[in-house]
Amino acid sequence: MRSYLLVLSLVALSSAQTFKRLGTCPTLGCVFPPDQTDFQPGQLFDIRVEVHAPVNGSEAFANGVPDENFSLQIQHGTEDPVDVTQFFNQSDPPLEKWNFTYYEDLFARDNKAPTTVNVASKAYRALSLKKPGPYKAILTYYDTVQTVANWVVRDPPKKKKVKNVILFIGDGMTQAMITAARLLAHKSINGKYQSLMQLDQMEALGHQMTHSIDSFITDSANSATALYTGKKSTVNALNVFVDSSSDSTDDPKFETIAELFRRETGGPVGIVSTAFIADATPAALCAHNRNRNDYPNVVYEYLHGASTLPNDTLPWPTHCAPDVIFGGGAEQFIKGSGSPEGLDFYEEFRKDDYSVVFDKDQLANAGNDSKVLGIFSISNMAKWLDRNVFPNNLKSLKNHPSGDGTDATNQPGLKQMTLKAIDILAARTKKTQKPGFFLMSEAASIDKMMHVLDYQRALGELLELDDTVKATLEHLEKIGERDNTLVIVTADHGHGFDVFGGSDAKYLAAQKTDRKKRDAVGVYVNSGLSGYTVDPDSLPTNNTVLVGPHGPGFPVNWEPRYGIAAGMGANPDHREAYSLNEPGPRLPATASDSDPDDFVVNPKDQPDGFVVNGTLPVDEDQGVHSLTDVSVFAWGPGHEVFRGAYSNVEIFFKIADSLGLGMEEDGEDCD
Ligand SMILES: *[C@@H]1O[C@H](CO)[C@@H](O)[C@H](O)[C@H]1NC(C)=O
Ligand SMILES: *[C@@H]1O[C@H](CO)[C@@H](O)[C@H](O)[C@H]1NC(C)=O
Ligand SMILES: *[C@@H]1O[C@H](CO)[C@@H](O)[C@H](O)[C@H]1NC(C)=O
Ligand SMILES: *[C@@H]1O[C@H](CO)[C@@H](O)[C@H](O)[C@H]1NC(C)=O
Ligand SMILES: *[C@@H]1O[C@H](CO)[C@@H](O)[C@H](O)[C@H]1NC(C)=O
Ligand SMILES: *[C@@H]1O[C@H](CO)[C@@H](O)[C@H](O)[C@H]1NC(C)=O
Ligand SMILES: *[C@@H]1O[C@H](CO)[C@@H](O)[C@H](O)[C@H]1NC(C)=O
Ligand SMILES: *[C@@H]1O[C@H](CO)[C@@H](O)[C@H](O)[C@H]1NC(C)=O
Ligand SMILES: [Zn+2]
Repeated sequence: MRSYLLVLSLVALSSAQTFKRLGTCPTLGCVFPPDQTDFQPGQLFDIRVEVHAPVNGSEAFANGVPDENFSLQIQHGTEDPVDVTQFFNQSDPPLEKWNFTYYEDLFARDNKAPTTVNVASKAYRALSLKKPGPYKAILTYYDTVQTVANWVVRDPPKKKKVKNVILFIGDGMTQAMITAARLLAHKSINGKYQSLMQLDQMEALGHQMTHSIDSFITDSANSATALYTGKKSTVNALNVFVDSSSDSTDDPKFETIAELFRRETGGPVGIVSTAFIADATPAALCAHNRNRNDYPNVVYEYLHGASTLPNDTLPWPTHCAPDVIFGGGAEQFIKGSGSPEGLDFYEEFRKDDYSVVFDKDQLANAGNDSKVLGIFSISNMAKWLDRNVFPNNLKSLKNHPSGDGTDATNQPGLKQMTLKAIDILAARTKKTQKPGFFLMSEAASIDKMMHVLDYQRALGELLELDDTVKATLEHLEKIGERDNTLVIVTADHGHGFDVFGGSDAKYLAAQKTDRKKRDAVGVYVNSGLSGYTVDPDSLPTNNTVLVGPHGPGFPVNWEPRYGIAAGMGANPDHREAYSLNEPGPRLPATASDSDPDDFVVNPKDQPDGFVVNGTLPVDEDQGVHSLTDVSVFAWGPGHEVFRGAYSNVEIFFKIADSLGLGMEEDGEDCD
């Protein structure tokens, strides 16, 4: 038997910061699900344990030979700990071994001095815990060292509150953006708004904290994972805890709200997004992958579920099986262009009884009874501003979803997609006699346009989301489902966007020097009034809200002389004129001539503007996400539980509780 005499003194916590050996594993023994994980009763999950032996670097240990004789015990409450195989009645899985490298800090990276770590590991698949209460997973390794993970199985209420749930995600949407959108689209007289956004008229308001498990800034994969599963994870991960192996599909999985809803109720599931449909926020309802960029496998999982991944024979007995999938991203469906296994993936969906639609008219005409895959463009869908104000921008893009090289000029918006999804889900709920449906609808390009500092396009997307929420509540009323449906609107993370003044576009363009151009920014009293909604020459004398060509809640004029001066908490080098980029989304920074990883001002962007130097590493060509909490708005039965301030993972538990998922009455909880 090997002996590890120096164990206790050597296994000190190293304060990994920029880079980590493995984010959720500060000691040399790793347990996934890690400490502080909560489950809904019956929610499926995998366990993986790893024992690390760094070969060199500050944690070098045991000559780089990991203990292969580790043990894992599970303890429920105050009962005696039991070996994991006995606790879950599973056979002992094979031992896996691999190694990986990482940099301990930025100096090690610059010196190209990686640390190598050897690993011994085991994985236990598709488990669940039904009895509420506290659990401990105790990993014992190197003879006497222990890593303990505390888990809690929640005790949900005994009664479900609602049939249907519609969850809207304004990707990257913050309260500052909502405030700015209101300024653009709602008239105010002497400082008082004459109308409000739908988001301003919530029945419950809360806010949620978006941090990752191992970093304080999140991305959309990781935060969608938290919202849909109640589990914190790592940047880029979809519904797995990130292990140290190189395979991106063998990481320990856990079940999403869509899979749990489908498995327990059989009710229909819908996914709507203005992004390419393999993008993180839609993908996170169904996919299990530590790499959000593994698009073919994401699309494969929409159709077939995780257990059938071509290279993965691991059991995963649950599948979100969406009835409705609407979005962009034809490149993952067109034969040979990035589709799974090079197949015509439209055809694979048709074989599974989906109707496939490609434009606004086909969408409107699709029956409500069958499953529908609607893919409306290659890549992300067109923005509200381009579809409605600059439709010529939809031309010459050769992005038709069929891949025939024509332009996708007849794309639906978020509102049309969402209302049609509701009709299909409601009809299929009735047809299959299920208790209700679940729909996620994402306004994806709030985030995408904020990344490229295109404030007006981002706010257009936000106003479209607001208009969609309003239309959704009205539509639910019309089809008699309003009292059965919980509607939630939230975001997955923010950006450091805010408005700090007004800007005189005419004056700014007329000035010759960068320093003089900055005189066009009016702060405090000189910020003036919004130039967006009201034509200054025809101020109404009554309280009428001026309605633009696109209906109430959108500005009359998107390019007023007096616009908003806005900025981001973080940005690349760029030039700023606070003006709308008419020909399409902005591209603020481009690679310098000498170095493809050094981004400088794009000479073509906002040529009238002044240079704003960046605050980010120079290889970042866009703005990045920020720390802010984000708002939660709710309407309908059980909206009250969304009040207050809480972690993003609570959204999953609140939705699961509302739908009665994991309740005892499904008869599975026998003791
Ligand atoms: C593994 O542990 C068992 C029980 O603790 C012990 O009997 C056995 O000798 C160990 N094997 C090695 C290779 O250390
Ligand atoms: C444990 O698993 C075996 C094989 O799958 C099965 O035959 C047995 O009934 C299970 N025992 C319990 C207590 O569930
Ligand atoms: C890492 O693993 C590879 C292949 O499994 C092996 O050849 C190599 O020696 C290992 N590296 C170290 C430092 O142990
Ligand atoms: C670890 O060992 C490898 C191989 O000898 C070496 O390239 C690397 O620089 C070492 N890393 C550290 C942190 O010492
Ligand atoms: C499966 O593995 C093969 C060989 O490594 C690879 O070519 C193929 O792309 C993989 N398929 C998927 C869907 O990941
Ligand atoms: C779908 O359902 C909606 C709402 O009930 C209805 O107005 C519409 O006509 C239906 N469409 C079709 C094609 O049946
Ligand atoms: C308010 O003023 C607008 C614009 O002048 C006019 O079109 C509208 O009819 C007026 N509304 C009422 C209720 O007087
Ligand atoms: C400021 O931005 C310009 C244009 O991108 C760039 O050439 C210059 O190096 C930047 N200055 C600093 C200090 O980064
Ligand atoms: Zn983003």
